[in-house]
Amino acid sequence: MHTQVGIVGAGPAGLLLSQLLDLNGIDNVVLERQTAVYVQGRIRAGVLEAGTVALAGQAQCDARMIREGLAHTGTEFCFDGTRHRIDFDGLTGKSVLVYGQTELTKDLMAARAARGATIIYEAEDVALHDVDRDKPRLTWRKDGEPHTLTCDFIAGCDGFHGVSRQAIPDSVLRVYEKTFPFAWAGMLADTRPVSDELIYINHEDGFSLCSMRSTTRSRYYLQCPVDDDVANWSDDRFWTELSRRLPAESRDGLETGPSLEKSVTPLRSFVAEPMRHGRLFLAGDAAHIVPPTGAKGLNLAASDVHYLSQALIGYFRNNRVDLIDSYSATCLHRVWKAQRFSNWLTGLMHLYPENGDFGRPPAACGTRLHRRFPRGADSPRGKLCRATVSNRGCQRSI
Ligand code: APR
Repeated sequence: MHTQVGIVGAGPAGLLLSQLLDLNGIDNVVLERQTAVYVQGRIRAGVLEAGTVALAGQAQCDARMIREGLAHTGTEFCFDGTRHRIDFDGLTGKSVLVYGQTELTKDLMAARAARGATIIYEAEDVALHDVDRDKPRLTWRKDGEPHTLTCDFIAGCDGFHGVSRQAIPDSVLRVYEKTFPFAWAGMLADTRPVSDELIYINHEDGFSLCSMRSTTRSRYYLQCPVDDDVANWSDDRFWTELSRRLPAESRDGLETGPSLEKSVTPLRSFVAEPMRHGRLFLAGDAAHIVPPTGAKGLNLAASDVHYLSQALIGYFRNNRVDLIDSYSATCLHRVWKAQRFSNWLTGLMHLYPENGDFGRPPAACGTRLHRRFPRGADSPRGKLCRATVSNRGCQRSI
């Protein structure tokens, strides 16, 4: 069996790439380790930037998101109980669309099925071979039977835990990684969101985020210890803690109810370079992970897919190799910008346990300060030290 592009992974990156290539007459096959039901059931990101929505339009799978997604023209940041709105639309002329990755995945699966796509679910032991030769191969087992697919190119869209990245030799692959000293406890519930827009909250007991998937489905997060267990978070405990961290005027509006899903997710930054080796391309989480604070993960994956689809269309239609050659550098330029932004926002909003009382927001020590300062050890604004205040026996510079 032969295909032009073998795609490993049927997450949003793999499915979107498959659809865009197919619409441009490029034959492809997707191999996915899990079942379709499992892939559809994963609760992940939910904020689509304008570029991602535009790409979904090109992929002819944006009808439902346009109908059901919630256009947000801004977001709120809360410090010391005071809310500050950032007007995306006024400042940039752009807004974001709140629409769950789960729903996007369903739309992509439906669009692929409508075009008779070849997606092989429950493909076991997927392996990549000869990625730096002319005819790379994919092998796998399905129902115990071995299979082989030769390809012109392979797209590794198999997420952080996938196998594609491992096909790049150690002598070539460079990995950058940082783990954060906290995690996010997340809860999904069919309750009315506490606010029409997202609220990012900097609280003396840790960050929290009020998000949503629709006008009737809320998604909330609480900063928690890095080694926390989801079993420690009963629904009651989650709602009580969330309520405590909310700005006072929002507490009465918090609608509670049984959780649909709960999780504890450690935060990580990760970049693998290069994103192309021979005839293998990496896209999405296979090449990079950002802490979720900036809502960049899914949008970066979509951006990779945009550049990769353009490179492959250029190659198969016009024999162009320039976009293939520049793919890695083009993507990494954007990836590193998103890493810097996500790290900065994470530092600004979270409590860093290793900083102890020194790192707690000033209000926690009974003093209101005029200027906030981020607690991230490596925050770009960490050097904003001017005055010194003293209270409860501790001294700190601001
Ligand atoms: N063989 C086949 N498929 C695999 C393998 C493997 N060895 N390993 C992983 N996969 C599949 C996973 O089961 C999953 O369905 O690859 C898919 C990868 O999907 P995602 O993890 O969702 O990654 P991606 O498509 O890059 O999506 C972008 O950015 O920040 C995030 O939330 C965001 O998950 C989203 C991601």
